[in-house]
Amino acid sequence: MIRQAIIPLAGLGTRLLPLTSVFAKELLPINGKPGVEYILDECFDAGIKEIIFIISKKKQIIKKYFYNDSFFKKMIRKKKDKRIIIEYKKILKYKKMIKFVYQNKPMGTGDAVYKAKKFIKDKYFLLLLPDDLIINKNCSKAMIKIFKRNNCSVMASMKVNKKTVNRWGIFSIKSKINISDFYIKDVIEKPDIKSAPSNRAIIGRYILPKKIFTKLKHQKKGKGEEIHITDSIRKLIYEGDKFIGHNFDGKYLDCGTMQGYINSSLEISKI
Ligand code: G1P
Repeated sequence: MIRQAIIPLAGLGTRLLPLTSVFAKELLPINGKPGVEYILDECFDAGIKEIIFIISKKKQIIKKYFYNDSFFKKMIRKKKDKRIIIEYKKILKYKKMIKFVYQNKPMGTGDAVYKAKKFIKDKYFLLLLPDDLIINKNCSKAMIKIFKRNNCSVMASMKVNKKTVNRWGIFSIKSKINISDFYIKDVIEKPDIKSAPSNRAIIGRYILPKKIFTKLKHQKKGKGEEIHITDSIRKLIYEGDKFIGHNFDGKYLDCGTMQGYINSSLEISKI
């Protein structure tokens, strides 16, 4: 069973400046709804029961979004607006599921995930990177199905333009399982074009084993002086752990850049 999800939210969001100089990028509205709520909806619909948010002191606004009860209660008493009641109920539902952990120095996704170590109870957990929205199909749900069948790690995958491989974690394939799934031979974080083994990129959905924490504990900084989850995944693969790459069916939206963020609103408004 996959019951817990980790969502790292402590990043500075410099690619979305100036908006992120005063605001958490994950709360920026995409077609009228904070980006992170799309991720929460995906988790809930995939059967996740507990969510660990990694935030920072600078991003307390995210906690406040879920802990503004007295304000909502006052507003509901005053206005008796059905829409506000529905939205508040949704916030309450998620509030009950979320635990907050702090990463005050942004040192990379690997470091963020390590901060959640003490909360992870089961053998496997889900990791979602909130810059990556996947619409039209619940990618986490599809990956959990694959996990149930194979009882091993799973990562979302998508072919990207060869010229952009240095922006992603890139896979090489060991063997194909079916049209959409394959066993991973190796993975490398942000390779240059010459050393990239393929143009298959990791997209921000992972089902990972709890034992990755033993690798993260000693993980040295990699590309861009950050601690990457990819580098610890690589160690597990080298030790013989099975990892499946899953070419997901939904549409990928990159909310981490200004152009991608603007485009996300347009795409979601079409649904
Ligand atoms: C992270 C991962 C990378 C992955 C990407 C997907 O990179 O490190 O392997 O391909 O997310 O969005 P980041 O976007 O944090 O640079």
